[in-house]
Amino acid sequence: NLGIINIPVYVHVVYSNSNENISDNQINSQIDVLNEDFRATNSDASQAPTEFAGLVADSEITFSLAGVFRHSNSRTSWGTNDLVKSTYPPITPETHLNIWVCNIGGGILGYAQFPGGPTATDGVVVGPNFFGTTGYLSAPFDEGRTTTHEVGHYLNLRHIWGDGRCRQDDFVSDTPSSDGPNYGCPSYPTVNCRSNDMTMNYMDYVDDACMYMFTEGQKSRMRSIFASGGPRSAMVN
Ligand code: ARG
Ligand code: ZN
Ligand code: CA
Repeated sequence: NLGIINIPVYVHVVYSNSNENISDNQINSQIDVLNEDFRATNSDASQAPTEFAGLVADSEITFSLAGVFRHSNSRTSWGTNDLVKSTYPPITPETHLNIWVCNIGGGILGYAQFPGGPTATDGVVVGPNFFGTTGYLSAPFDEGRTTTHEVGHYLNLRHIWGDGRCRQDDFVSDTPSSDGPNYGCPSYPTVNCRSNDMTMNYMDYVDDACMYMFTEGQKSRMRSIFASGGPRSAMVN
């Protein structure tokens, strides 16, 4: 048992206008959301329906801001091909979560790399207006949950529907099978694949206000990457 795992975070703010040069307050508000969501101290966790309430997990992972790097650049959208990462390389990605905050474009809120990939592109990318809970924000993605979702991927979680039909797994046994993402703020129950979808899971695609839990199964999948021999074992001790 590794106990509480703290992940130090470097934030790279890459901006083409003053709105995108988000404030330190906005950055800190995102670190706060990560700490709440990954420790299940978020106030909305209590909304979980009875069926899922016992699965709400404190992942025992915390985040601390280790540094902020600001870069002005005339490029107005960065896409999902990791150009922002080659332009502003990650700093010690073996031991630090690197987050690039820049406009991705194409309606993309954020994207992430799974553990075990190249260190040069390790980390997550999030649009400035989807980052944190105060400042330059776009509803309904203004509660910092895009970063929670992307850090979930960075810690090895798949989408809740397994990115396929009912039989396609997310490799987590306590998340019900589904056949596609949910959007907006679904009413409970939403039934797919003969079970109620866990639409309120951070790894679905619903609005920020309607996602509020990881499960115990997701917790063990995340924590296993820190174990000896695991792809993020260098981050602990
Ligand atoms: N990668 C997903 C996208 O860009 C992130 C979805 C995050 N969802 C959310 N409610 N914040 O579409
Ligand atoms: Zn995703
Ligand atoms: Ca599952």
